[in-house]
Amino acid sequence: MRCKSADAASKLILLGEHAVVYGEAALAVPLKQPKARATVSQAQHGRSVAVELKDYNLRWDGATPPPPEAEPFARIIRAAAKRFTAVPAQGWKLAVRSQIPSGCGLGSGAAVAAAAFKAIFRYFRVPHTPQVLSELVYEIEKLHHGTPSGIDNTVIALGRPILFRKGAPAQFLATPQSRCFLIVGHTGRRHRTSEIVAEVARARGLDPVRYDTIFRDIGRLSGPGAKAFQAGRWSELGRIMDRNQELLESLDVSSPELDSLVAAARNAGALGAKLSGAGRGGCMAALTDDPLCAKRTQRALKAAGAAATFLTEVGDHEG
Ligand code: MEV
Repeated sequence: MRCKSADAASKLILLGEHAVVYGEAALAVPLKQPKARATVSQAQHGRSVAVELKDYNLRWDGATPPPPEAEPFARIIRAAAKRFTAVPAQGWKLAVRSQIPSGCGLGSGAAVAAAAFKAIFRYFRVPHTPQVLSELVYEIEKLHHGTPSGIDNTVIALGRPILFRKGAPAQFLATPQSRCFLIVGHTGRRHRTSEIVAEVARARGLDPVRYDTIFRDIGRLSGPGAKAFQAGRWSELGRIMDRNQELLESLDVSSPELDSLVAAARNAGALGAKLSGAGRGGCMAALTDDPLCAKRTQRALKAAGAAATFLTEVGDHEG
């Protein structure tokens, strides 16, 4: 039976989370690992659209109302069939599998949606641009995150490092002039991005001047951070990440688990480390240009209690 699969990367915000919600610039990169994969094939009974979520051990036959886990996929199917005449509303099956832990700041919701749309486009031969993919994923993201800034869908759909500002076209970053390693540590604690963003908004409501100053200070790091990234000035980028972490701590979005993973990474020799994503759990990321230090940092994160770690190489050795 004919089937088509597609992958989507996870994402890592290197600089600027939370401030990006308030119009400041942020720097984000796609990560090839962990990733999400979706496959479209013909449905056996041919009457409805079926969804199979392998990681949730869930099957939905499309004939009954979707269970909560399948709701985003029901919307994906509806959106694709409504917008593209080549996509029928019935007679096919979507299977999704993701290595990306959900609720940890790596863009799991956006990645599974992007993989699903890409597999649908491949199966039904729908021409599309990354921009269209990004817009479709953004609509699904709203289900997970309420009013997301758009950074997750943008970096995942475009699949390239970007400097992002809400409402403006994303700026692509050049491939760095030398390689670096990003080491991600997952605290094991899931978070709900929409709740944390709402809590930050409430706190800002009580003290707008202080919060807007912090957002601006965070935003000011992204431009120099993007330049350091492209030039491969990794020590400088590491210092900027450390400064960003301080500012995120003053927004009260770090947590004891994140702080201890960040400290472990720095002690292992990482050039910089910070939480990544909404915070209060989820993931942190550390940077180094030395492969031995990357391995050492990964071991240090595991020893400090990371529930999962991911090591990615970025730069001129990228495959
Ligand atoms: C979540 O990945 C990043 C936040 O800045 C929220 C957003 O940008 O929508 C916390």
